[in-house]
Amino acid sequence: MNVERLTGVLGAQINDIDLNDLDKKQVEELHQQVCDHQVVVIPNQSFSPKEQTEFSHLLGPYSPVPFVEPISGYPEVIKVVKKESESEAFNFGGVWHSDFSFLEIPPAFTILHALDVPDIGGDTVWSSNVAAYEALDDTSKERFDTITCIHSASASYSPKQQSLHSGLSGMDIRTSNDAERNTEHPLVCTHPVTGNKSLFFNGTYVRGLKGGGINDSEDEVNLLMWLHNWTTHIRFTFRHRWSNGDVVIWDNRSTQHVAINDYPGRHRELNRTTVAGENPSN
Ligand code: SIN
Repeated sequence: MNVERLTGVLGAQINDIDLNDLDKKQVEELHQQVCDHQVVVIPNQSFSPKEQTEFSHLLGPYSPVPFVEPISGYPEVIKVVKKESESEAFNFGGVWHSDFSFLEIPPAFTILHALDVPDIGGDTVWSSNVAAYEALDDTSKERFDTITCIHSASASYSPKQQSLHSGLSGMDIRTSNDAERNTEHPLVCTHPVTGNKSLFFNGTYVRGLKGGGINDSEDEVNLLMWLHNWTTHIRFTFRHRWSNGDVVIWDNRSTQHVAINDYPGRHRELNRTTVAGENPSN
Protein backbone atom coordinates (compact mmCIF):
# COMPACT_ATOMS: atom_id res chain seq x y z
CA MET A 1 0.00 0.00 0.00
CA ASN A 2 1.16 3.43 -0.89
CA VAL A 3 0.77 5.34 2.40
CA GLU A 4 1.39 9.08 2.47
CA ARG A 5 1.53 10.78 5.88
CA LEU A 6 -0.50 13.98 6.09
CA THR A 7 1.01 15.59 9.19
CA GLY A 8 3.94 14.80 11.47
CA VAL A 9 1.49 13.80 14.22
CA LEU A 10 -1.47 11.85 12.82
CA GLY A 11 -3.29 11.19 9.56
CA ALA A 12 -2.35 9.33 6.39
CA GLN A 13 -3.79 8.87 2.91
CA ILE A 14 -3.91 5.69 0.84
CA ASN A 15 -4.68 6.22 -2.85
CA ASP A 16 -4.29 2.93 -4.62
CA ILE A 17 -6.88 0.64 -3.07
CA ASP A 18 -10.50 -0.31 -3.73
CA LEU A 19 -12.24 -1.01 -0.42
CA ASN A 20 -14.71 -3.31 -2.21
CA ASP A 21 -11.89 -5.53 -3.42
CA LEU A 22 -9.36 -6.20 -0.67
CA ASP A 23 -7.61 -9.47 -0.03
CA LYS A 24 -6.90 -10.72 3.50
CA LYS A 25 -3.36 -9.33 3.54
CA GLN A 26 -4.56 -5.89 2.45
CA VAL A 27 -7.24 -5.88 5.17
CA GLU A 28 -4.60 -6.69 7.79
CA GLU A 29 -2.34 -3.97 6.46
CA LEU A 30 -5.13 -1.40 6.38
CA HIS A 31 -6.11 -2.32 9.95
CA GLN A 32 -2.52 -1.76 11.05
CA GLN A 33 -2.26 1.56 9.15
CA VAL A 34 -5.38 2.91 10.88
CA CYS A 35 -3.99 1.91 14.28
CA ASP A 36 -0.60 3.45 13.47
CA HIS A 37 -1.77 6.71 11.83
CA GLN A 38 -5.01 7.03 13.84
CA VAL A 39 -6.89 8.51 10.85
CA VAL A 40 -6.66 7.20 7.28
CA VAL A 41 -8.20 8.90 4.22
CA ILE A 42 -9.02 6.74 1.20
CA PRO A 43 -10.33 8.85 -1.71
CA ASN A 44 -12.55 7.84 -4.66
CA GLN A 45 -14.49 5.00 -3.09
CA SER A 46 -17.93 3.86 -4.13
CA PHE A 47 -19.84 2.22 -1.29
CA SER A 48 -23.50 1.22 -1.16
CA PRO A 49 -24.76 0.88 2.45
CA LYS A 50 -24.49 -2.91 2.01
CA GLU A 51 -20.89 -2.66 0.79
CA GLN A 52 -19.99 -0.30 3.63
CA THR A 53 -21.45 -2.79 6.13
CA GLU A 54 -19.50 -5.66 4.55
CA PHE A 55 -16.29 -3.62 4.58
CA SER A 56 -16.81 -2.71 8.27
CA HIS A 57 -17.07 -6.40 9.13
CA LEU A 58 -13.61 -6.93 7.65
CA LEU A 59 -12.21 -4.63 10.35
CA GLY A 60 -14.24 -6.18 13.18
CA PRO A 61 -17.72 -6.81 14.55
CA TYR A 62 -20.53 -4.23 14.58
CA SER A 63 -20.50 -1.77 17.46
CA PRO A 64 -23.97 -0.85 18.75
CA VAL A 65 -25.19 2.67 17.94
CA PRO A 66 -27.35 4.13 20.71
CA PHE A 67 -29.76 7.07 20.22
CA VAL A 68 -29.34 7.32 16.42
CA GLU A 69 -31.68 5.28 14.19
CA PRO A 70 -30.02 3.52 11.26
CA ILE A 71 -31.09 4.00 7.66
CA SER A 72 -33.92 1.81 6.47
CA GLY A 73 -32.87 -1.76 5.66
CA TYR A 74 -29.27 -1.31 6.88
CA PRO A 75 -29.25 -1.66 10.67
CA GLU A 76 -25.53 -0.88 11.00
CA VAL A 77 -25.43 2.31 8.89
CA ILE A 78 -26.36 5.77 10.10
CA LYS A 79 -26.65 8.81 7.88
CA VAL A 80 -24.93 11.98 9.06
CA VAL A 81 -26.82 14.71 7.23
CA LYS A 82 -27.54 18.40 7.51
CA LYS A 83 -29.74 19.93 4.83
CA GLU A 84 -29.22 23.34 3.26
CA SER A 85 -32.41 24.67 4.86
CA GLU A 86 -31.48 23.58 8.39
CA SER A 87 -30.50 25.78 11.30
CA GLU A 88 -26.96 27.04 11.36
CA ALA A 89 -26.88 26.59 15.13
CA PHE A 90 -26.36 22.82 15.39
CA ASN A 91 -24.75 19.95 13.53
CA PHE A 92 -24.16 16.29 14.40
CA GLY A 93 -20.70 15.71 15.88
CA GLY A 94 -20.03 19.43 16.16
CA VAL A 95 -18.22 19.27 19.51
CA TRP A 96 -14.98 17.45 20.33
CA HIS A 97 -15.69 13.80 21.13
CA SER A 98 -14.65 10.17 20.62
CA ASP A 99 -17.57 8.15 19.32
CA PHE A 100 -19.70 6.71 22.12
CA SER A 101 -16.88 6.63 24.68
CA PHE A 102 -19.65 6.29 27.30
CA LEU A 103 -20.21 2.63 26.27
CA GLU A 104 -18.60 -0.17 28.31
CA ILE A 105 -17.03 -1.23 25.02
CA PRO A 106 -16.65 1.89 22.87
CA PRO A 107 -16.14 1.52 19.12
CA ALA A 108 -12.57 0.99 17.98
CA PHE A 109 -13.09 2.37 14.47
CA THR A 110 -15.52 4.68 12.71
CA ILE A 111 -15.87 4.60 8.94
CA LEU A 112 -17.34 7.68 7.27
CA HIS A 113 -18.15 7.76 3.55
CA ALA A 114 -18.78 11.14 1.91
CA LEU A 115 -21.85 11.09 -0.35
CA ASP A 116 -22.68 14.75 -0.88
CA VAL A 117 -20.40 17.24 0.80
CA PRO A 118 -20.36 21.04 0.46
CA ASP A 119 -18.06 22.73 -2.01
CA ILE A 120 -16.73 24.80 0.87
CA GLY A 121 -16.75 24.09 4.60
CA GLY A 122 -17.81 21.00 6.55
CA ASP A 123 -14.29 19.77 7.28
CA THR A 124 -13.62 17.32 10.10
CA VAL A 125 -10.72 17.77 12.53
CA TRP A 126 -9.12 15.00 14.58
CA SER A 127 -6.73 15.32 17.50
CA SER A 128 -4.27 12.70 18.65
CA ASN A 129 -4.75 11.63 22.26
CA VAL A 130 -1.44 9.75 21.90
CA ALA A 131 0.49 12.92 21.03
CA ALA A 132 -1.30 14.72 23.88
CA TYR A 133 -0.15 12.00 26.31
CA GLU A 134 3.41 11.90 25.01
CA ALA A 135 3.82 15.69 25.36
CA LEU A 136 3.03 15.57 29.10
CA ASP A 137 5.78 15.97 31.68
CA ASP A 138 6.60 12.95 33.86
CA THR A 139 4.81 14.33 36.94
CA SER A 140 1.55 14.73 35.00
CA LYS A 141 1.93 11.26 33.45
CA GLU A 142 2.27 9.74 36.94
CA ARG A 143 -0.69 11.70 38.29
CA PHE A 144 -2.94 10.98 35.31
CA ASP A 145 -2.23 7.26 35.65
CA THR A 146 -4.26 7.36 38.88
CA ILE A 147 -7.32 9.11 37.39
CA THR A 148 -10.57 7.47 36.30
CA CYS A 149 -12.92 9.31 33.90
CA ILE A 150 -16.68 9.13 34.35
CA HIS A 151 -18.24 9.02 30.89
CA SER A 152 -21.90 9.62 30.06
CA ALA A 153 -24.02 10.77 27.14
CA SER A 154 -26.01 13.17 29.35
CA ALA A 155 -24.77 16.38 27.74
CA SER A 156 -25.71 15.13 24.26
CA TYR A 157 -28.57 12.65 24.38
CA SER A 158 -30.67 13.35 27.48
CA PRO A 159 -34.31 14.23 26.66
CA LYS A 160 -33.70 17.95 27.13
CA GLN A 161 -31.54 17.85 23.99
CA GLN A 162 -34.32 16.37 21.83
CA SER A 163 -35.40 19.65 20.20
CA LEU A 164 -31.82 20.32 19.10
CA HIS A 165 -31.57 16.90 17.41
CA SER A 166 -35.06 17.15 15.94
CA GLY A 167 -33.83 20.15 13.94
CA LEU A 168 -31.84 17.70 11.79
CA SER A 169 -34.71 16.35 9.70
CA GLY A 170 -32.56 13.91 7.74
CA MET A 171 -31.53 12.07 10.92
CA ASP A 172 -33.68 10.19 13.42
CA ILE A 173 -32.11 10.82 16.83
CA ARG A 174 -34.03 9.60 19.88
CA THR A 175 -32.81 10.97 23.19
CA SER A 176 -33.48 8.95 26.33
CA ASN A 177 -32.94 8.90 30.08
CA ASP A 178 -30.40 6.10 29.39
CA ALA A 179 -28.06 8.96 28.56
CA GLU A 180 -27.67 9.61 32.30
CA ARG A 181 -25.93 6.24 32.83
CA ASN A 182 -22.27 6.55 33.89
CA THR A 183 -19.40 4.37 32.71
CA GLU A 184 -15.86 4.53 34.07
CA HIS A 185 -12.70 4.22 31.99
CA PRO A 186 -9.10 4.99 32.95
CA LEU A 187 -7.79 8.38 31.79
CA VAL A 188 -4.56 6.79 30.57
CA CYS A 189 -5.21 3.82 28.29
CA THR A 190 -2.89 1.53 26.35
CA HIS A 191 -3.76 0.84 22.73
CA PRO A 192 -4.28 -2.93 22.25
CA VAL A 193 -2.52 -3.00 18.87
CA THR A 194 0.23 -0.36 18.98
CA GLY A 195 0.90 -0.47 22.73
CA ASN A 196 0.90 3.35 22.72
CA LYS A 197 -0.45 5.14 25.75
CA SER A 198 -3.02 7.87 25.26
CA LEU A 199 -5.30 10.18 27.21
CA PHE A 200 -8.68 8.53 26.65
CA PHE A 201 -10.48 11.82 27.17
CA ASN A 202 -13.06 13.94 25.40
CA GLY A 203 -14.83 16.94 26.86
CA THR A 204 -18.27 15.92 25.57
CA TYR A 205 -18.69 12.52 27.19
CA VAL A 206 -16.27 12.76 30.14
CA ARG A 207 -18.49 14.40 32.76
CA GLY A 208 -16.39 13.74 35.89
CA LEU A 209 -13.00 12.62 37.22
CA LYS A 210 -11.93 10.48 40.20
CA GLY A 211 -8.53 10.04 41.87
CA GLY A 212 -5.41 12.01 41.01
CA GLY A 213 -5.53 14.05 44.22
CA ILE A 214 -8.67 15.90 43.11
CA ASN A 215 -10.04 17.49 46.30
CA ASP A 216 -13.28 19.17 45.32
CA SER A 217 -15.53 20.02 42.41
CA GLU A 218 -13.56 23.17 41.60
CA ASP A 219 -10.40 21.05 41.14
CA GLU A 220 -12.41 18.62 39.04
CA VAL A 221 -13.92 21.29 36.78
CA ASN A 222 -10.54 22.98 36.34
CA LEU A 223 -8.87 19.69 35.38
CA LEU A 224 -11.70 18.81 32.98
CA MET A 225 -11.21 22.16 31.26
CA TRP A 226 -7.42 21.75 31.25
CA LEU A 227 -7.67 18.27 29.72
CA HIS A 228 -10.06 19.53 27.03
CA ASN A 229 -7.76 22.44 26.11
CA TRP A 230 -4.63 20.27 26.19
CA THR A 231 -5.92 17.30 24.21
CA THR A 232 -7.45 19.47 21.46
CA HIS A 233 -4.49 21.81 21.08
CA ILE A 234 -3.96 22.67 17.43
CA ARG A 235 -0.50 21.07 17.38
CA PHE A 236 -2.04 17.64 17.97
CA THR A 237 -4.56 17.93 15.11
CA PHE A 238 -5.21 16.92 11.50
CA ARG A 239 -7.96 18.54 9.39
CA HIS A 240 -9.63 16.90 6.40
CA ARG A 241 -11.35 18.75 3.52
CA TRP A 242 -13.93 16.28 2.21
CA SER A 243 -14.63 15.34 -1.41
CA ASN A 244 -17.48 13.06 -2.48
CA GLY A 245 -16.29 9.45 -2.45
CA ASP A 246 -13.80 9.92 0.37
CA VAL A 247 -13.78 7.24 3.02
CA VAL A 248 -12.11 8.17 6.28
CA ILE A 249 -11.44 5.52 8.92
CA TRP A 250 -10.37 6.63 12.38
CA ASP A 251 -9.41 4.99 15.62
CA ASN A 252 -11.58 6.26 18.48
CA ARG A 253 -9.19 4.71 21.02
CA SER A 254 -6.47 7.21 20.17
CA THR A 255 -8.30 10.27 18.78
CA GLN A 256 -11.09 12.80 19.26
CA HIS A 257 -12.81 14.61 16.42
CA VAL A 258 -15.14 17.50 15.63
CA ALA A 259 -17.28 18.22 12.55
CA ILE A 260 -16.97 21.92 11.75
CA ASN A 261 -20.30 23.68 11.31
CA ASP A 262 -19.29 26.33 8.78
CA TYR A 263 -21.47 25.62 5.71
CA PRO A 264 -24.71 27.57 6.13
CA GLY A 265 -27.14 27.03 3.26
CA ARG A 266 -25.27 23.95 2.03
CA HIS A 267 -26.06 20.22 2.17
CA ARG A 268 -23.66 17.72 3.82
CA GLU A 269 -24.31 13.97 3.82
CA LEU A 270 -22.15 11.00 4.78
CA ASN A 271 -22.81 7.38 5.78
CA ARG A 272 -21.25 6.07 8.96
CA THR A 273 -20.53 2.62 10.38
CA THR A 274 -18.70 1.67 13.56
CA VAL A 275 -16.58 -1.33 14.52
CA ALA A 276 -16.47 -2.68 18.07
CA GLY A 277 -13.38 -2.31 20.22
CA GLU A 278 -12.66 -3.65 23.69
CA ASN A 279 -12.94 -2.46 27.28
CA PRO A 280 -10.41 0.43 27.55
CA SER A 281 -7.62 -0.41 29.99
CA ASN A 282 -4.27 0.97 31.05
C1 SIN B 1 -19.22 12.08 13.70
O1 SIN B 1 -18.93 12.65 14.72
O2 SIN B 1 -19.35 10.87 13.69
C2 SIN B 1 -19.45 12.84 12.43
C3 SIN B 1 -18.22 13.49 11.95
C4 SIN B 1 -18.47 14.30 10.72
O3 SIN B 1 -19.62 14.47 10.31
O4 SIN B 1 -17.50 14.82 10.17
